[in-house]
Amino acid sequence: MSLTEFSAGAPLAQGGHSLPKVTMPALGEMKRQGKPISALTAYDYATARLVDEAGIDLILVGDSLAMVVLGHENTLAVTVDEMLHHTRAVRRGVRRALVVADMPFGSYHGTIGEGVANAVRFLKEAGAEAVKIEGLRVELVRALVEAEIPVVGHLGLTPQSVHRMGGYRVQARSIDAALQLQADAFALAAAGAGAIVLEGIPREAAGAITAALPIPSIGIGAGPDCDGQILVFHDLVNLTFVPAAKFVRRYGDASALFRSAIEHYREDVEHHAFPSDAESYHLPESARRLSAIDPDAADAREDTDAVVNWDAREEMSEEAKRA
Ligand code: KIV
Repeated sequence: MSLTEFSAGAPLAQGGHSLPKVTMPALGEMKRQGKPISALTAYDYATARLVDEAGIDLILVGDSLAMVVLGHENTLAVTVDEMLHHTRAVRRGVRRALVVADMPFGSYHGTIGEGVANAVRFLKEAGAEAVKIEGLRVELVRALVEAEIPVVGHLGLTPQSVHRMGGYRVQARSIDAALQLQADAFALAAAGAGAIVLEGIPREAAGAITAALPIPSIGIGAGPDCDGQILVFHDLVNLTFVPAAKFVRRYGDASALFRSAIEHYREDVEHHAFPSDAESYHLPESARRLSAIDPDAADAREDTDAVVNWDAREEMSEEAKRA
């Protein structure tokens, strides 16, 4: 059991300042004002809530969850229904950030109508505020925008193309390839995309594209000159079980923290050190005295009923009382 409600009327506050809701047009305004856009992935309620409360502007329910949450080898296996499930959980944890859902492999690779219908599900059934699609899909972007669905594009190293690329390889490594990428980014912007993720490309290419592009670029493995940056949450906190890629900076070590907590718990259980008496619920004094000895005693039964009906949430842990 755990309390999951937002405290009533909690402000969207960070560092004492109240922050306005992030929308797709607001990202464009941030670019115009030269304000860097912070973005992170999240896949569940708890992490989404932490990410949002830390003031991150954009939360992507990335199909990277196929790998970091579901343990698949690449992102291709995750389904629309699985993505919807995680997007709903994230939605429930976010008040301020823009929630973007990744369209999984296969959900927009058929007809334009199928792509739009799948995208509609993310807004209608899961509360996403935009969808992200990989690659140069100009016609689809136009159709999505016409259907009132904000779109984030994704160019460069597009993980759903892993088999075509022959692995996760840095893209746009020649002038010609960088110019082609720039043309693709412009085409997506002209079709109505609100922002574009640039992944796994040289810093110089990302910087030049960003400078010329009318919509924000959000980089991952694309150097510091993009309008914003995104990382996979599990990379940020070391929960991936693989060596970090060059572009990842680990800002924390959740693996070490979790391992130590789990091992400590196991040891305590094995040594009867958890739970303590203070972490146990108790019968009232009178019932404790009488119930074991005389279960028919009327006052003991009344007290016991009171205990059975009492809401366990009302009794706080010692730690919560101190907080
Ligand atoms: O799925 C994902 O997490 C992504 C980011 C890496 C941009 O697409």
